[in-house]
Amino acid sequence: MASIDYTVRGGGPLAGTVTVAGDKSISHRAVILSALAEGRSEIAGLLEGEDVLGTVAAFRALGVTIDGPRDGRLTVDGVGLHGLKAPVGALDLGNSGTSMRLLAGLMAAQPFGTRLVGDESLMRRPMERVAAPLRLMGAVIETGEGGRPPLHIVGGRGLHAIEYRMPMASAQVKSAILLAALYARGRTVVIEPAPSRDHSERMLAGFGYPVHRDGATITIEGGAGPLRPVQLDVPADLSSAAFFLVAASIVPGSCLRLPRVGMNPTRRGVIDILRAMGAHIEAENETVAGGEPVADLVVRSAPLRGIAIPRELVPLAIDEFPALFIAAACAQGTTTVRGAEELRVKESDRLAVMARGLAALGVAVEEYPDGLAIRGTPLKGGVIESGGDHRVAMAFAVAGLKAADAVLVRDCRNVATSFPGFVACAKAVGFDLEVNAS
Ligand code: S3P
Repeated sequence: MASIDYTVRGGGPLAGTVTVAGDKSISHRAVILSALAEGRSEIAGLLEGEDVLGTVAAFRALGVTIDGPRDGRLTVDGVGLHGLKAPVGALDLGNSGTSMRLLAGLMAAQPFGTRLVGDESLMRRPMERVAAPLRLMGAVIETGEGGRPPLHIVGGRGLHAIEYRMPMASAQVKSAILLAALYARGRTVVIEPAPSRDHSERMLAGFGYPVHRDGATITIEGGAGPLRPVQLDVPADLSSAAFFLVAASIVPGSCLRLPRVGMNPTRRGVIDILRAMGAHIEAENETVAGGEPVADLVVRSAPLRGIAIPRELVPLAIDEFPALFIAAACAQGTTTVRGAEELRVKESDRLAVMARGLAALGVAVEEYPDGLAIRGTPLKGGVIESGGDHRVAMAFAVAGLKAADAVLVRDCRNVATSFPGFVACAKAVGFDLEVNAS
């Protein structure tokens, strides 16, 4: 497959409106729960990125009739909780950890067996974190070497409820357990060590399935009824918007508007962190779409200063650290983040890959097992290896706006997993960005 590189050069202010793609986490869940509902659901604003298309393909392979997506619209003829069919062959979930972990929970409860595989990056990611609690529920799951994929799930086991204290804040693990719990005998209780994104809980409630939360404890009863089909509008993805929030903050004279961005309190750590660094971000027209708070964001350039990022904000901004590290490199003073060891098991080891890339641009970075310290410095040009990680690639495209010479970012193909329109959006608001396929 052709490799895609970006070359970005510094330039003038960014201006205009960026219509960011649909939220990835919410899009996955919308497909999954619509497939399990009894009847036709209509989804608008769906992310048409490769990760979500992988989830759509998986449900087609599981016997669900799905029309689209076209212009973000998807029609799903849900088959009910007990209507999925055994797929022919393995389900290939590409680059998507969310698809594999959520499907592990769902597949553990089916009367048939499944095998889950993915691309090179996904095949390196830890899966015991979902397999272990599912086994406690009675599932039979084999992981590959070192607890990594492939996942071989032996179906036909009746599951039972558990009370599970999660060892890490992970919405994927929580969601896998909640999906299995729909089928389990009894009341499942999940206790979070820190809040993680709560889209699954919100959306289950939106499909008419009762989920109870009391502080850090979530309770769900198996067999509590069917999922009712919905009409659902997916907000724009704050994780994709984050690149533009940082870009407009660091390029003097910039002003960008980002309509209908998801502002879920379990996701909006990036806004709190950027504001603490001095960023000028306003939320206008706050409303609710698909059970999620949304707002139009307006960001203007502002001088940023380094901060110690509060640990409690880390899980609430976990996917935004590549972008935040670029903000830190352009800030006055030092920014530190600790308690972020989860970044080592994302699509790449984001602490190592970001530290290497920043160093290549002349930034002083100290790497800890669980974080980074970054001293703000004028950036020089250079060559960056993205490690095939979509968010690393987009983060360094933003860094290129502030570098003295061109920044060449290699291996940007996976930007299509979460934000296929990134290049078009970036160019439309003033990025000097060239795409080279080799
Ligand atoms: C996601 C949860 C997070 C996040 C990922 C999407 C989700 O992962 O990093 O991009 O949709 O549930 P963890 O559950 O591993 O924290």
